[in-house]
Amino acid sequence: MSLTLQRADLLRTTFPVGGDWREAVSGVRYEIEDPALAQAFASVPDGDARDAQAALDAADAAFPAWRAVPARDRSRILARWNALLLEHREDLGRLISREQGKPLAEAIGEIAYAASYVEWFAAEAVRAYGDVIPPPVRGRQMLAVKEPVGVIAAITPWNFPAAMIARKIAPALAAGCTVVAKPAEDTPLTSLALAALAEEAGVPAGVLNLVTASRANAASVVDVWLADARVRKLTFTGSTPVGRHLARASADTLKKLSLELGGNAPFIVFEDADLDAAVDGLMAAKFRNAGQTCVCPNRVYVHAAVHDDFVARLAARVSVLKVAPATDADAQIGPLINLRAVEKVERHVQDALARGARLVTGGQRLPALGPNFYQPTVLTGVDGSMELSCEETFGPMVPVFRFEDEHAVLAEANGTPYGLASYFYTRDVRRIARVAAALESGLVGINEGAVAAEAAPFGGVKASGYGREGARQGIEEYMHLKYLCQGGLD
Ligand code: SIN
Repeated sequence: MSLTLQRADLLRTTFPVGGDWREAVSGVRYEIEDPALAQAFASVPDGDARDAQAALDAADAAFPAWRAVPARDRSRILARWNALLLEHREDLGRLISREQGKPLAEAIGEIAYAASYVEWFAAEAVRAYGDVIPPPVRGRQMLAVKEPVGVIAAITPWNFPAAMIARKIAPALAAGCTVVAKPAEDTPLTSLALAALAEEAGVPAGVLNLVTASRANAASVVDVWLADARVRKLTFTGSTPVGRHLARASADTLKKLSLELGGNAPFIVFEDADLDAAVDGLMAAKFRNAGQTCVCPNRVYVHAAVHDDFVARLAARVSVLKVAPATDADAQIGPLINLRAVEKVERHVQDALARGARLVTGGQRLPALGPNFYQPTVLTGVDGSMELSCEETFGPMVPVFRFEDEHAVLAEANGTPYGLASYFYTRDVRRIARVAAALESGLVGINEGAVAAEAAPFGGVKASGYGREGARQGIEEYMHLKYLCQGGLD
């Protein structure tokens, strides 16, 4: 099936290095699959270490001029990029749907989400203030000024092909850094289109360089950037094991790091919760992107007093979700990214059922739609012995745990190495303060399932990583503080 875009030139199949859209040095290309059909529909260059080196040389050469561009002008370029993203949101949404699988309306929503970070950092570029420090002795002037760190490397995931790269690149450009980036192997087309629009917005040659690479070549690209001291910062969204490897490999050159890693989010429904609101919140948080979101609730704890009522309301909503390819205008749940993802959901469901869980709805693949479709599923009677309790499912499956005691449920909620997001529903104001303070996560949704926003700091604690994206803190990750002490002024 062909991919028809209003602007055909947004389907880029080469990558930009130093302003030149090029093939890999090797000349090799790899294929991109449509997850709905599990069939290739496009190909991109399969970059390797030589392309990574060229990208880094270009970013390094472009840095002095870009950092010298007045913040107001960098801000204007970002504002134009934001406008172009919104203007072409339909085409960009089509690219996301095709390579990632999410329904078109959701994909267009992701473009608005990505653009919101660009708009935000366009505004932050002109507000990167430092401090004038009251000197402790006479005759001195003491200043703390913010400077761009230099070249940054961004490694981005497949689940949000536009939003994750936008929220790394936009603050980097706002701060005056130049960028080398490797988009996820499965979803490079969206980021190439974003880069084309960045160029159109006025981002100068060499400031934003992308290298696409297959799974087999990904490490050879990243290793060049890890080993080179000119890369002053690495930003990564992906799994905890890969994050640990990147942190270790960055140690020799002491790079600044932001790591947004795996989650295992608890979602707690207390006995005094507004159950309709809790079901709404869970549906929004859990089924976004077919459950393939780091902040998705992975363990749902419901108080025994409202458990059966909550499960009945939830099942009524989940069982009518429309599972379909993104081409279906009514689709609510698309395919998972690949067969490995389907097999993981299936493994979690089967393991839970074998250990005594009850299937409320779903629980099957949908081969008539394609190999990567899985029914939205609800399980009850789950417990901590099951694989789903300690591993992120990353798919459309809701396991419901029953609990009776606040203290015990908080211990269970926190009883994981991860700490990205958590959610709870209650109408008791004292409990809100207590539970919000006790939960060990970087984000807490209180009577709210949709928590991420460009204005808020996004990031985790514990094995979910460190560093924050978005918010006024997001630009700090791309700057360092320089202290200027001038003496002899008395
Ligand atoms: C993620 O899944 O890593 C990002 C989700 C979000 O930005 O809400």
